[in-house]
Amino acid sequence: MVLRITKYGEPVLREKGQPIEKMDESLHAFIDDMFDTMEAANGIGLAAQQVGRAMQLCIVDVSDMDDRPSRLWIDGKECDVEAFMPLVLINPTLELSGEQIPGPEGCLSFPEIYGEVSRPDKAKVKALDGYGKAIEFECSGLLSRCIQHEVDHLNGLLFIDRMDKAERERIREEISGLAEDTRLWLEHQAPKKA
Ligand code: NI
Repeated sequence: MVLRITKYGEPVLREKGQPIEKMDESLHAFIDDMFDTMEAANGIGLAAQQVGRAMQLCIVDVSDMDDRPSRLWIDGKECDVEAFMPLVLINPTLELSGEQIPGPEGCLSFPEIYGEVSRPDKAKVKALDGYGKAIEFECSGLLSRCIQHEVDHLNGLLFIDRMDKAERERIREEISGLAEDTRLWLEHQAPKKA
């Protein structure tokens, strides 16, 4: 089932996710819905906050992104990225290293808005997968950028927070337009006062 994607200005996007303590049927159904939602929106990553739930859970799929390559290592050995897609990351932690690399980013919670964000090239990821199994790997390139972006969501951080001043200024009007649309939408959703 495709879920509604939350937009910039909705409070849940600023909430830190709760750690997930048990995997059950309802969690699996929710993860399936997140995949349906990400695919319908043509995204490469989606965090639980983006479908309205502040949890330590995100999904990533950088398959078929040949123009923006990724690399992945397990125990120091390089592996085929496509073979590990899609990824479900539960309670993820990151250790970042390498030089800061600028690159273009978008976010499903900021429709049609893109900007350049600098992030460390490499990420060491520890998480549970969708079955509750511990996974650990290193990655770089688009996969690293995408995971860093999604894990930021899990901590209530957004890509605009990572932009430098000039980049934020460049898209300032688009961001405030979106914030205003969201404000009106939230007002409309609020129960009418008597
Ligand atoms: Ni995003």
